[in-house]
Amino acid sequence: MENTVTVTDNRTGEQYTFPVTHDTIRAMDLRKIKVAPDDFGMMSYDPAFMNTASCESKITYIDGDKGILRYRGYDIADLAEHCTFPQVAYLVIHGELPDPEQETEWLAALRIHMGIFENIKKFMEGFRYDAHPMGMLVSTLAALSTFYPDAKDVRNSEVQMHCIRRIIGKIPIIAAYGYRHSKGLDYISPEPKLGYAENFMHMLWDRSPLEHLKHPVLARALDVLFILHIDHEQNCSTNAMRAVGSSEADPFLSIAGAAAALAGPLHGGANEEVLKMLDKIGSQENIPEFIRGVKEGKHKLMGFGHRVYKNYDPRARIIKRTAEEVFEVTGRNKKIDLAMELERIALTDDYFVSRKLYPNVDFYSGIIYEAMGLEPQMFTVLFAIPRAVGWLAQWQELINDPAQKIARPRQIYTGYEQRKLPDSYTYGAPSEESLAYTR
Ligand code: ACO
Repeated sequence: MENTVTVTDNRTGEQYTFPVTHDTIRAMDLRKIKVAPDDFGMMSYDPAFMNTASCESKITYIDGDKGILRYRGYDIADLAEHCTFPQVAYLVIHGELPDPEQETEWLAALRIHMGIFENIKKFMEGFRYDAHPMGMLVSTLAALSTFYPDAKDVRNSEVQMHCIRRIIGKIPIIAAYGYRHSKGLDYISPEPKLGYAENFMHMLWDRSPLEHLKHPVLARALDVLFILHIDHEQNCSTNAMRAVGSSEADPFLSIAGAAAALAGPLHGGANEEVLKMLDKIGSQENIPEFIRGVKEGKHKLMGFGHRVYKNYDPRARIIKRTAEEVFEVTGRNKKIDLAMELERIALTDDYFVSRKLYPNVDFYSGIIYEAMGLEPQMFTVLFAIPRAVGWLAQWQELINDPAQKIARPRQIYTGYEQRKLPDSYTYGAPSEESLAYTR
């Protein structure tokens, strides 16, 4: 079988044969399709990148129809069950799981970077008491760029790795400080000897009324949640990371862009919305009415549906299990029963079945976070901490990929043809109003 595809242009009768690699044709080949020699050539139109591969990647594999997610070839369920977050972070960044020596070095390298400048603390103190923690995270990640001018040398592989370690080391500190800031609590310095998730919990809850939540079962649950959130191939925020990074902006600025994209309610902000939705539904007898509203297009069932998964999100399955372990320590969060009933009803309803809408990672994660004493505002931050690893792996892959250039889509212009300025603008004096504006 020949790996080509032949297209006939019915406007001209011309035929074009294009190579097919990985079931994909190159969009640039379409440019050969022209109606005249001076024609620009054909483009593909794909708002929201529904069917466009923007890169080749070796990091994450998803089969959305079968509900498969793998990092570097390993199933997410195996990684979540048998590995720690730092081990999986190493795998995603380096391509292989660490041997014991590599793991020791990796942990030591991350620990070195677990600290932030006093100025950053002062910078964070400047936020209002009710600032959204994602706003604080995004701004502080961008502000870090001003501390590390060496990060601008993005093509230097040593600099790349240095920045990766810095960001993975520092992001939980920024997240925890944002949390404590909003509570009016003093900042707790990291305790690098603790595990990654444990240390984060220490910075959140030490010397606070929630100190009892520094529990090994919860630390492991958080570690598992972190593993599940590390990467998810070319999602909205990863695409933002790659788009900003493609201009050779430094990784602190690029990751601030990625975190900003994550903050939206259709992406990482969905876990916050799920909790608000469950609060609004209130009790199981209100579910049918809520579902009716979804079907009438009044609101969405948040935490359901996914661009890629048209089957159960494998992360949601693991999170559901983890939730039960957390409740053993914290007591049952009643919202899990509400969510499970909502899921049961939705998965038997033709509206959801026919559209292949299943629970995604955000449907249950917020319920665990809430049981851990965290408010919905913090949920997306908890997503951003581990996703930083994925963003950085994708950024590094982008920078080192010779096929990549600055990301710059085309458009189909549908505006006016050339127009002449009205005489009043061409020759007239500026109006009083516009003069007042410039004064
Ligand atoms: N509730 C109700 N209907 C939905 C939902 C939902 N959560 N999601 C999709 N649909 C419907 C759409 O209205 C559409 O119906 P139609 O064909 O009658 O017009 C159909 O299902 C297809 O949905 P699209 O919006 O075309 O799917 P898309 O791939 O563009 O969107 C998205 C994916 C944004 C995740 C969407 O499912 C959604 O908004 N879900 C709720 C928000 C959410 O949970 N986001 C988290 C995603 S996971 C993550 O980012 C980490």
